[in-house]
Amino acid sequence: MRTQVGIVGGGPAGLLLARLLGLAGIDAIVLERRTPEYLRARIRAGLLEQGTVDLLNDIGVGARLDRERLIHDGVELAFDGQRRRIDLKALSGKSVTIYGQAEIQNDLMDAHEAAGTPIVYAAEDVSLHGLTGEQPHLRYRKGGKSHDIACDFIAGCDGFHGVSRQAIPPDVLRIYEKVYPFGWLGILSETPPVNHELIYNNHERGFALCTMRSLTRSRYYLQVSAEEDAAHWSDDRFWTELKGRLPPDVAARLVTGPSIEKSVAPLRSFVAEPMRHGRLFLAGDAAHIVPPTGAKGLNLAAADVRFLAEALVAHYKTGSAQLLDGYSTKCLARVWKAQRFSWWMTSLTHRFPDASPFERRAQGAELAYITSSRAGQTTLAENYVGLPFA
Ligand code: FAD
Ligand code: DHB
Repeated sequence: MRTQVGIVGGGPAGLLLARLLGLAGIDAIVLERRTPEYLRARIRAGLLEQGTVDLLNDIGVGARLDRERLIHDGVELAFDGQRRRIDLKALSGKSVTIYGQAEIQNDLMDAHEAAGTPIVYAAEDVSLHGLTGEQPHLRYRKGGKSHDIACDFIAGCDGFHGVSRQAIPPDVLRIYEKVYPFGWLGILSETPPVNHELIYNNHERGFALCTMRSLTRSRYYLQVSAEEDAAHWSDDRFWTELKGRLPPDVAARLVTGPSIEKSVAPLRSFVAEPMRHGRLFLAGDAAHIVPPTGAKGLNLAAADVRFLAEALVAHYKTGSAQLLDGYSTKCLARVWKAQRFSWWMTSLTHRFPDASPFERRAQGAELAYITSSRAGQTTLAENYVGLPFA
């Protein structure tokens, strides 16, 4: 087999890239380890920047998104028994969109099915070869048989635990990492959201986030220890703990119900530099992870892919390698700003087990400052809605 761009990973980054390339007349094959059923049901992100919504519209997969999304003009921070709203729209001119990653995954898979994009699901033992030569190739197994795909370029879109980043020699990669001493326990339930906008709660029992997927489906997260097992959390235990962390007026109107999903995600900041090695280009979680507090992971993946598709299209149309050569630097400039914001939002809203009384008081003062100063609110708003692409 041969293709122009071999894509490892059929999550949002891989499928967005395949669609952008397909629309530009560039061949791509996607190798994905999981089954379609698994991918369609996987629940993760929920908050999209306008730039991500624009990209989905540009590639013709925005119809259901436009019908079903919720648009939020503000967000709340709750601490010390108070609630403070940040008016995103007034301060930054932009809003954010609530639309689940599972819905985007389904919309992208439907579009690819209609377009006939070659996507190999349940591909086993994917490996990358010849990255610094003229013709790299991908190898994988399926149905007991081994297959080989010769490519011009390979895009590593296989997430944090994928094989693409590991195919880069360790002496070439620089890793920057921060692991947090806690995780997020998330649940999804068929209940109306407790508030019409998101509430990020800093409480002495730990952080809690109230978010949603629709007007009838809620998503809540609790800060828990990094080793916590979701199996130890009955629905009752979760709802009781959540109520304990919300301001009393909010807790009083929380509607509870059976959970549809419950899982723990560890929190980590991670960047691998550079995002290119020879003819391999990394995009999305394969190259960087942010703690979820700023809701930046999926949005960053979409931004990487937008730059990578532009660079590949320029290469095939004009023969110029300029954009491909600048890809890593251009992505990393934006990635580091989102890293900084995600780390800062995490530091502002979570309870750190080893924080000194001084650090705790300073955190309280920072929350009071950020939410009361127009400059502070604007800083939060312009990062939260998404920094410009240039
Ligand atoms: P992934 O979604 O991880 O996709 C990678 C794909 O590669 C997967 O399908 C995987 O099966 C496949 N793969 C892996 N290894 C191999 C292999 N060896 N061979 C072939 N295929 C392979 N982001 C936001 O922007 N907003 C939010 O509100 C938000 N909330 C979040 C909440 C939680 C609890 C979590 C955990 C994450 C959240 N994120 C959020 C982050 C977001 O989900 C990720 O950043 C996003 O999924 C990254 O997309 P990706 O395509 O780069 O990687
Ligand atoms: C969601 C997740 C986040 O990490 C966040 O900051 C906002 C929303 C969500 O799952 O809806």
